[in-house]
Amino acid sequence: MTVTEKTVEEQLVKSRHRVRTYGEVFTPRHMVEEMLDLVQEDLEGPGFVDKTFLEPAAGDGNFLVAILRRKLHAIEKQYPAEQWRQESLFALASIYGVELLEDNHQDAKAIMLAEFLRFHQKRGNPGKRDTVLRKAAAFLIDRNIVSGNTLTGKTTTGEDIQFSWWNRIDAAPGMVQRMPFALSSLAGDTLDFTNYASYQACQIETVHEEVRADV
Ligand SMILES: C[S@@+](CC[C@H](N)C(=O)[O-])C[C@H]1O[C@@H](n2cnc3c(N)ncnc32)[C@H](O)[C@@H]1O
Repeated sequence: MTVTEKTVEEQLVKSRHRVRTYGEVFTPRHMVEEMLDLVQEDLEGPGFVDKTFLEPAAGDGNFLVAILRRKLHAIEKQYPAEQWRQESLFALASIYGVELLEDNHQDAKAIMLAEFLRFHQKRGNPGKRDTVLRKAAAFLIDRNIVSGNTLTGKTTTGEDIQFSWWNRIDAAPGMVQRMPFALSSLAGDTLDFTNYASYQACQIETVHEEVRADV
């Protein structure tokens, strides 16, 4: 099969109605890769694991998963194997998305989790349904890839879209502190962390336990 045939096989449009109503046309895979080549330094240069990306119209997650794939590849090349678990979770924590349509939103989350688990399965981590790694990864994906409208900053039920800043604690390897903020505060000079719960610092592999600091 030629490259051209492969490209034609990709489904770039689901329906005319969705194109007209939501502007839903997917970027072909080769273009996604070419665009990411432009920010290669952020995906594999110094500090790449924690460099943040926000996809405001996430679609089925095609950009998000390509970003994750590159970061995982760079982690494998640049970190010792014993750090892959925690660094791969920090990589997940750095990738954010918003998507209006629920089917696309679910697809985007699923493709991220599958990519993450595939990376670990291929390298000897079972990544089964009940593992800590899987729970932490699914939790980070759920918090970071949200259903809503980027333009209004609201979820489909009318609440403010809430993201979290996953603050890596440099002095303590693997430790993170979750700091929630509203997407709308990204438009201002500083993120506003004041309106939400605060959480205790913890190992990133236990972040899904959500231990609060304010209760
Ligand atoms: C043109 S597609 C692009 C998808 C993906 N970014 C790509 O390039 O392949 C636009 C996507 O954005 C979503 N979308 C449209 N308006 C949006 C909004 N205001 N907030 C969040 N998502 C939106 C649509 O549902 C659709 O999945």
